[in-house]
Amino acid sequence: MRFSSSPSSSWTASLALLSALSSLSTPANAVKYENFKTCAQSGFCSRNRAYADKAVAAGQSWEVPYQIVPDSLDWKDGQLIGTILKSINTKGDTVRLPITISFLESGSARVTIDEEKRQKGEIDLRHNSIARKERYNEAEKWAIVGGLELTKSAEVSKDGKRATVKYGPEAKFEAVVTYAPFGIDFKRDDVTQVKFNDRGLMNVEHWRPKVDKPKKEESEGEGDQKPIQDAEPEEDESTWWEESFGGHTDPKARGPESVGLDITFPGYEHVFGIPEHAGPMSLKQTRGGDGNYNDPYRLYNADVFEYIVDSPMTLYGAIPFMQAHRKDSTVGVFWMNAAETWIDIVKTKASHSALSLGIGSKTDTQTHWFSESGLVDVFVFLGPTPKDVTKAYGELTGYTQLPQEFAIAYHQCRWNYVTDEDVKDVDRKMDKYSIPYDVIWLDIEYTDEKKYFTWDPNTFGNSLGMLKQLDSAERKLVAIIDPHIKNDDGYPIVDELKSKDLAVHNKDGQIYEGWCWPGSSHWVDCFNPEAIKWWISLFKYDKFKGSADNLFIWNDMNEPSVFNGPETTMPKDNLHHGNWEHRDVHNINGMTFHNATYQALLERKKGELRRPFVLTRSYYAGSQRLGAMWTGDNEAKWEALAAAFPMILNNGIAGFPFAGADVGGFFGNPEKDLLTRWYQAGAFYPFFRGHAHIDTRRREPYLAGEPYTGIITQALRLRYSLLPAWYTAFHEASVDGTPIIRPHYFEYPGDEAAFAIDDQFFVGSTGLLAKPVVTEKAESVEIYLPDNELYYDYFDYTTYTGQGKKTVPAPLEKIPLLMQGGHIIPRKDRPRRSSGLMKWDPYTLVIALNKAETAKGELYVDDGETFDYQNGAYIHRAFEFAAGELVSKDISTKGKATDKYLKSMKRVGIEKIVIVGVPKAWADKTSVKVGSGEAMMEYHAGDGSKAAWAVVKGPKVAIGEDWTISFA
Ligand code: NOJ
Repeated sequence: MRFSSSPSSSWTASLALLSALSSLSTPANAVKYENFKTCAQSGFCSRNRAYADKAVAAGQSWEVPYQIVPDSLDWKDGQLIGTILKSINTKGDTVRLPITISFLESGSARVTIDEEKRQKGEIDLRHNSIARKERYNEAEKWAIVGGLELTKSAEVSKDGKRATVKYGPEAKFEAVVTYAPFGIDFKRDDVTQVKFNDRGLMNVEHWRPKVDKPKKEESEGEGDQKPIQDAEPEEDESTWWEESFGGHTDPKARGPESVGLDITFPGYEHVFGIPEHAGPMSLKQTRGGDGNYNDPYRLYNADVFEYIVDSPMTLYGAIPFMQAHRKDSTVGVFWMNAAETWIDIVKTKASHSALSLGIGSKTDTQTHWFSESGLVDVFVFLGPTPKDVTKAYGELTGYTQLPQEFAIAYHQCRWNYVTDEDVKDVDRKMDKYSIPYDVIWLDIEYTDEKKYFTWDPNTFGNSLGMLKQLDSAERKLVAIIDPHIKNDDGYPIVDELKSKDLAVHNKDGQIYEGWCWPGSSHWVDCFNPEAIKWWISLFKYDKFKGSADNLFIWNDMNEPSVFNGPETTMPKDNLHHGNWEHRDVHNINGMTFHNATYQALLERKKGELRRPFVLTRSYYAGSQRLGAMWTGDNEAKWEALAAAFPMILNNGIAGFPFAGADVGGFFGNPEKDLLTRWYQAGAFYPFFRGHAHIDTRRREPYLAGEPYTGIITQALRLRYSLLPAWYTAFHEASVDGTPIIRPHYFEYPGDEAAFAIDDQFFVGSTGLLAKPVVTEKAESVEIYLPDNELYYDYFDYTTYTGQGKKTVPAPLEKIPLLMQGGHIIPRKDRPRRSSGLMKWDPYTLVIALNKAETAKGELYVDDGETFDYQNGAYIHRAFEFAAGELVSKDISTKGKATDKYLKSMKRVGIEKIVIVGVPKAWADKTSVKVGSGEAMMEYHAGDGSKAAWAVVKGPKVAIGEDWTISFA
């Protein structure tokens, strides 16, 4: 939430005033801590932490109240199904918790724990609540799209104490389920990798009726001060039935119902993932101590503006997926729960048997997960490589969407372009200054009084004319559409929302009303299949008048952001489709809206099947299937620039790599060198968009003036020329989940020195190693080289070699970018106005030779727009340079659309091949053999530390065909 100084409605003005007043006590431009809970202010977080403290204090004498009933455990079709008993008092009373442990064909395992009473609906709700009684069990419906097939090959053995299941590839994985106390050890190759409930922190808060006890004063003086014989120790119920925060009270109709579990990674010193947080990629400890956090990492999607850059505070999205990494081994867990979740991380001296075998680091990472409601439902991935873990997670939640090609080019946004003429003017100016861009964006002010699906008649009277001008250079428009629907008589959309009863309800079953940009609003409930159908209908061209096929959508505020709600979101007792409480589904909410918009764009007109592009702010596990995300309202400060890469890297680790940050910083006016550096960094964000708050000065690249405009243009051109490489990386992510920008440990899982590096990264499989400058006044950067290969400066071929840190010059005009020897990088070098206009342009191949004078690379190409690639309409080539020959090989799988596509690409060829690091012996060569013909080659001698290089001009080979070029 943020407030404009030119408010467009009176309520905004008064809220702006309120906000200004309330911020008097806090420094300007600081996150409003007081708007968001700390763990101590969240009942279940405090309870679970207190439980952990008790366990630690008790040490060996800690009694874990959970045990599996041995006879209950059955093995059926790849699943162990049984019951855990939770002892709830010293009288021997227990609560039954059904447990299912599923072993999947993919090698992943899943542990699901429910509560019988709630499952059967045998509980009473307070306050006449009409909410569902079960623990929320539909997260799977939204997050999971495949990979649930049960194994047929696992072997199980049982005795009175434990059940052991051997599963996974070549039965290398093993789960040892101990009955009393309940715990599971997951092993790979006989070494324990992941432990459940090793510390005994499992906690399933069972249902209980509220017993009104006499107040202390009343019982006093009644004479009977003797303790009752078998009285149980009093529990602190103060946060069980009701909680208040920031003037909002949450009356919990189902009472306490949190779930918690400790998950230990023995011998693993680093854990990554669980976005979204601003902080280092290698997650910090959270229980205090030098440089550590004091609060757990929180996942509760929220509109946290002006967020600080090193904090476990929650942000807009939540992916409860974590990877743990040690030398040559990666494992992961996915905690599939959509309620508010906190994760404590503690690193301790390793005490495990693996150490004695010399495996792993000297550190164990102990994590402790707890969610306010729902199931314990956890997937375990045993690797062993980071890519294996990401792939297995993607098999379940889906891989990243293969976007349209324009979506990975440059996006020009601000809040707001003020008229359709303004948009056209920016469009013309970008051309005048030869600055490439693909998409211009409209923020909320384009609407008629924040009524989505309308255009302000005074400022955007001719949207179609604007769209047409953009289309003439194959450019697109993205317009914002948020989930709050203005509560205004005579607005047909809200009338339909109400009459069809498709909005989120309050606890009494009435349509919920809250405040957002339009003032009084209702929220479409995209958990409801009928609401999705209706939402889809709104995007048809005849319904969303003034839209056209080069218009795409931005979904913002979908946490959801509610200005007058608790923690700027909805009350937890609001009701969604099926009467699930908002508390149960909060973290999935944003994804359901994103999903509905994605579905809507799929086919706005019958037969017009193109890949949607929808940007979302809020997200959950699975959102990667639907589009891109960005890191929300950052600040125009160097620290915010530096914070973006670790965030984007962690997003990629957690399966959602199509990520970016507002280039230039959302709040404030960046100095010109900051803006310039930000464009250089942004050229390496998978999602690359400049954006700015309504109160900031205009900052389109041509306004910066020289030398800045020129340097920014160079950064943009670099992105455009490397689009073939980026698109190939997106393709890879779309088939196996490998991140688009990759942290070191992904490529070098054995290089311990680099596990935590999060300010340099590789671009796809290209061997491009980038370290954009994120600090003020830098003249050089230190780039860490993971091996003894040759590394060439991308621009001037200066050569670096030898494992370790190298100083690379980085004056303002320079992006520190190296090519690792051994790679072939595809490019398109002709400067154009947009990516669409580059479609038929010829390619350049850059071959960076390694010490053995070999190199490999790949190129993926399709029409960049439709789904025809699913029928084989694409080119996928492997290039290999060895023994003086460059070979292009087909690695595609043919389909019914292949031939037609290849025909359309027949004339697209290679115009240039640059070979870097060529031996001196090439100095006399002037030509190469291409089939039975020849092409010219020029040799350029090296110069000091700069490598020699050669260029082949016009080899006349087609991009879609097999060929060999001989340099011998
Ligand atoms: C909040 C978003 O984070 C920001 O990018 C946008 O400009 C404003 N909402 C206005 O829509």
